[in-house]
Amino acid sequence: MIKTFFIRVYGCQMNFADAERLRRALVGSGWKETENPEEASALLAISCSIRQKAENRVLSFLSSYKHLKKKGTVLCLLGCTANLYGEEILKRFPFIDVVCGPNHISYIPQILENPITKKMVLTGENSSPFMELVESNEETSMMIPITKGCNNFCSYCVVPMARGRLQSKDPQKILKEIKSSVNRGVRYVVLLGQNVNEYGKDFKNKCDFGDLLSDVCKINGLLRVGFLTSHPEDTSKKILQIMAENQNVIRRLHIPLQSGSNKILRNMNRKYTVEKFLNVVEMARNLMPDISITSDILLGFPEETDSDFNETLKIVEKVRFSELYIFKYSPRPGTKAYLLKDNVSKEEKEHRHRTLLETQKKISNEIMQSFSGKTCEVFIERKSIKKQNHFIGRNIQDFPVILEGTEDIIGKIVRTKIFNHSDGFLCGSKLEEYQ
Ligand code: SAH
Ligand code: SF4
Ligand code: F3S
Repeated sequence: MIKTFFIRVYGCQMNFADAERLRRALVGSGWKETENPEEASALLAISCSIRQKAENRVLSFLSSYKHLKKKGTVLCLLGCTANLYGEEILKRFPFIDVVCGPNHISYIPQILENPITKKMVLTGENSSPFMELVESNEETSMMIPITKGCNNFCSYCVVPMARGRLQSKDPQKILKEIKSSVNRGVRYVVLLGQNVNEYGKDFKNKCDFGDLLSDVCKINGLLRVGFLTSHPEDTSKKILQIMAENQNVIRRLHIPLQSGSNKILRNMNRKYTVEKFLNVVEMARNLMPDISITSDILLGFPEETDSDFNETLKIVEKVRFSELYIFKYSPRPGTKAYLLKDNVSKEEKEHRHRTLLETQKKISNEIMQSFSGKTCEVFIERKSIKKQNHFIGRNIQDFPVILEGTEDIIGKIVRTKIFNHSDGFLCGSKLEEYQ
C-alpha cells in the first residue's frame, strides 16, 4: 500500500522550513505527498499560536477532517500549538493521534512507520532539535534554520514557550549543509531564526552571527544570502559591516519596530528605545545606501493611547519602510501581557490598523515606483503560475520581480530593466547578460 501524506502549514518561515525538511524526509522513506486530504494516510498540520486566530484556524482545520479517522487516517498536530498545550490538546480534540512540538519533528517519519496504537505527545526541549536535511536536486533556493527558540520574552509573545529556549546550530554543520546544497544546485539561502542576531549566544566559543554570515557568504557558487529576523537591540555595527562588505548578501534588513512609543516598547519588554532603533536604521543606510528596511508593527497593546499610536505613525513616515507587517494585539495565555487588561477596543484596533495600512501603502507604492527605469540584478526563483512564459525572481533588495524569459534562467541572476510595478511585483524585461 502506498503511504500518502497531506501537509498544511500555518505561521512563519520557521514552520515552512520545518515542513520542507519533513516533506523531504517522508518522501525519502517512500511516502507520497497528496494535495487531497481525503486520500492521505497521514494528515499533518504544522501549527502557529502567535495570535488566537492562527490557533483557531489550525484546530478547526483538523476538526474538519476528523471523519477520516474512520478510514484509519492518522491525524497529527505538529509545531507551536502542539508544544504549548501538549496533553491538553488530546482532551479537547480526542480525534488527534500525535501531538508533536517543533523540537521533535524529526521523529515524525519514524513514528509514522508503525501503526499508531496509542496517542503520542512529544513536547518540550530536545538536545538536538534541528532536523537533518535530505538532499534534493530540485531546489535553487532554500531556508536554513540556524537557531531554535528565543530567550527574549517580549511580554506579548508566545514563542519562548512555543519553541523553547534559544539553541544555535553548530556552525560547521550549517556550512556543510549549505556547501552540499550548493553542489546540488542551490544558489540562494535564507538563514532563519526568531532573532538571528542572537546566534551563538549559547555557545562557549565566540562564534556569533556576524562570523557565521561572513563564512556563509564566502561559499563558492552561492549567489545570494538572506536572513530573518533581526532584533533592533542586537543588530550590531559588525553585522551591518559584514552585510556591506559582501556583495552576495541581500540588501534587506527586517527589523521589527513593534511600536513608536517608548512607553509601549518598555511595557513590551523590547529592550530598545525608538532612538536606538533609528540609530540602527541610520547606521544601515550609511553603510548601504540602497538597503531596503522592512518591519513589523504590533498595535493595540494594552494602554496604547492615540498619542502612542501617533508616535508609531510618525516613525513609519520618517523611516519609510519598504514593507510593513501590521498586527493587532492578541492576548496570549502564558505571556506576561496576558495579565494586563486588553483595553484597546476592537474598533480602535481596527481604525489604527486601517490608518497605518493606508500610510504604508502610499510609501510602499512610492518606493516601488522609484525602481522604474532602473536596472536590477534579479535572482530567478521559479516560473510564474499565472502568466505564461514569465518568471519570478528577487532583486538584491528582495523585491519580487516578474519578467518574461525561458526555463534556463531559473537559478541564475538576470540583469533586468524595471519598467513598472503591479500587484506587489516589479515588472521588468530581461537584458541580455546573465550569470
Ligand atoms: N522574532 C521576531 C518576531 C516573531 S513573531 C521579533 O522579535 O521581532 C512575528 C510578529 O508577530 C511579531 O513581530 C509581532 O509583531 C507579531 N506578534 C507577536 N505576538 C503577537 C501577539 N500576541 N498579538 C499580535 N501580534 C503578535
Ligand atoms: Fe517573540 Fe520577542 Fe522572541 Fe521575537 S524576540 S520571538 S517577539 S519573544
Ligand atoms: Fe507562529 Fe511559532 Fe512562528 S507561534 S509565528 S509558527 S515561531
